[in-house]
Amino acid sequence: MIPALALYGVAKRFGATQILRGVNLAIEPGERHALIGPNGAGKSTLFNLIAGGARPNAGRIDLFGAEITRLAPAAIARRGLARSFQSTSVFGRLSVFDNLRCAALLAERDRLRWWQRFAGSSTVDARASQVLEAVGLGDRARDEAATLSYAEQRALDLGIALAGGAHTLLLDEPTAGMNRAEAARTIELIRETTAGRTLLMIEHDMDAVFAIADRISVLVQGRIIATGAPAAIRADAAVRAAYLGEGFDEGGGA
Ligand SMILES: Nc1ncnc2c1ncn2[C@@H]1O[C@H](COP(=O)(O)OP(=O)(O)OP(=O)(O)O)[C@@H](O)[C@H]1O
Ligand SMILES: [Mg+2]
Repeated sequence: MIPALALYGVAKRFGATQILRGVNLAIEPGERHALIGPNGAGKSTLFNLIAGGARPNAGRIDLFGAEITRLAPAAIARRGLARSFQSTSVFGRLSVFDNLRCAALLAERDRLRWWQRFAGSSTVDARASQVLEAVGLGDRARDEAATLSYAEQRALDLGIALAGGAHTLLLDEPTAGMNRAEAARTIELIRETTAGRTLLMIEHDMDAVFAIADRISVLVQGRIIATGAPAAIRADAAVRAAYLGEGFDEGGGA
């Protein structure tokens, strides 16, 4: 099977500092894959390379078998990859609905004829409405996004990624800054709304990781030291050593 996302020897340095040291990873279509690792391991940097925000110094990245390594972010997005950032990226002055409509419109833009663009598109509105309900923000549709609670803003962030219709989603710490109940709700939301899509998610909350991931990869100092099913990762000696003192056992819900 052709992987949804495949990384071959991806390396990145900033100046003299080698951040990623040859990352290999293959994610199957429809898989939910969690990327974990200590602070500064290079997780967000890896997402940035995949999404086209920066170019690797070496290696190759394929999306469904087609190379995307040197494409611009917009070109990669057009091929069906969406990325959410570690901090929220909603337009605060726009309504919740218009944030979703923008995302849906951007994705539709290339598929629509010019007259449809002028007339507005029922496809776009329908898509925005559908996502609005899916992420549980139906009753906040007309409110300015800036008035949402933090958890609601992250739900909108997820909605923006979904509204674009992407088949592959990169979510960078979607539960960051949330309390346990909010984090659990968000993970459930992600699980429901991403069914059938490919998900690569950076997450520090081990309960969240074990609740959603089919497989987990562990990035430590720019290298993936283990990839496997949650139970195997939890039992992996190298992983446990990398997380020593960080409460891996407690966080893992074991
Ligand atoms: N543009 C940049 N220029 C120089 N160094 C950078 C740049 N971006 C990231 N780094 C460095 O690269 C390393 C990896 O950063 P990155 O943000 O990828 O880590 P992370 O695994 O996402 O960490 P966290 O879990 O804290 O989010 C860090 O030491 C960071 O300071
Ligand atoms: Mg990060």
